[in-house]
Amino acid sequence: MESYITDLRVEFGPLRLKNPVLAASGTFGYGDEFSHLSDPSDMGGIVLKGISLRPRAGNPPPRIVETPAGMLNAIGLANIGVDRFLEEKVPRLREMDTVVIANIYGHTLEEYGAVARRLEVAPEITALEVNISCPNVAQGGVAFGTDPGQSAAVTRCVLDNTDKPVIVKLSPNVTDIRPIARAVEEAGAAAISLINTITGMVVDVETRRPRLGNVTGGLSGPAIRPVALRMVYEAVNTVNIPVIGVGGIVTAHDALEFLIAGASAVQVGTAHFVDPRAGIHIVKGLDDYCKERGIGRLGDLIGSLQVN
Ligand SMILES: Cc1cc2nc3c(=O)[nH]c(=O)nc-3n(C[C@H](O)[C@H](O)[C@H](O)COP(=O)(O)O)c2cc1C
Repeated sequence: MESYITDLRVEFGPLRLKNPVLAASGTFGYGDEFSHLSDPSDMGGIVLKGISLRPRAGNPPPRIVETPAGMLNAIGLANIGVDRFLEEKVPRLREMDTVVIANIYGHTLEEYGAVARRLEVAPEITALEVNISCPNVAQGGVAFGTDPGQSAAVTRCVLDNTDKPVIVKLSPNVTDIRPIARAVEEAGAAAISLINTITGMVVDVETRRPRLGNVTGGLSGPAIRPVALRMVYEAVNTVNIPVIGVGGIVTAHDALEFLIAGASAVQVGTAHFVDPRAGIHIVKGLDDYCKERGIGRLGDLIGSLQVN
């Protein structure tokens, strides 16, 4: 375990983190897959891969393609389902000396509620992060997260089924993030995280076929960072609940942009595919930044952006 000079702790809502750097959902497995390469306990927390009520095989391959300064994925939320998760993965979470957040999703309101309820038996999980970027099967496939009413309905449904703090993860694939942020705050979310991936597409000009089996996918990595930062800034200035910044964060400098813009914590995703210790390097970089500038408490930087 590393030790740092700066007080890197952040508190937001009901969560207490030893530092503000979390692993983003879907990029750090269930924590155990990476344990031989990187100790999750050195991060402020990890958000686990998305879990649904039933196991899902996901989309046909290819599922990942590189893009300029990023990658496009169409995994299709493949996962082992909540029952196997509780049986096989949760016991291993006990070894982790950090905050563990489960990421959940469903294709109907009932599915979201059912997954949340099943996870109540697991005290190892501190909070739930709700992915609302999934298509609502009952409503003809439109993503829950693109509509304020439906975003609020999912939030309420999860809250009705859990005593854990609920973080709602917003989709960037909307014209205006503010009404959605407001809707989930009013519905009772403890915090919001954003952004999920931005919809994109790549074509192979030799075969004239899409490069992903699913045709379109979600863009992540440094290419999306300025968009994520803009949306985090807008959300911070719209809601009173804490905001977690996600999108293209690779270095401590990147993380600082989000914290200064008002994010209470950050998540690191795609960078972990390049370096499984990316999140830990960022924690160290935050300590160095503060040390060099005589800042004793990292929390003092949060929201210190000067616009005028
Ligand atoms: C391969 C892959 C799988 C992902 N799986 C999930 C998931 O299961 N649930 C979720 O809410 N977000 C998922 N995401 C989105 C990330 O958590 C994150 O929001 C996004 O990639 C932007 O951050 P980044 O640029 O640091 O990767 C996934 C991203 C990638 C690249």
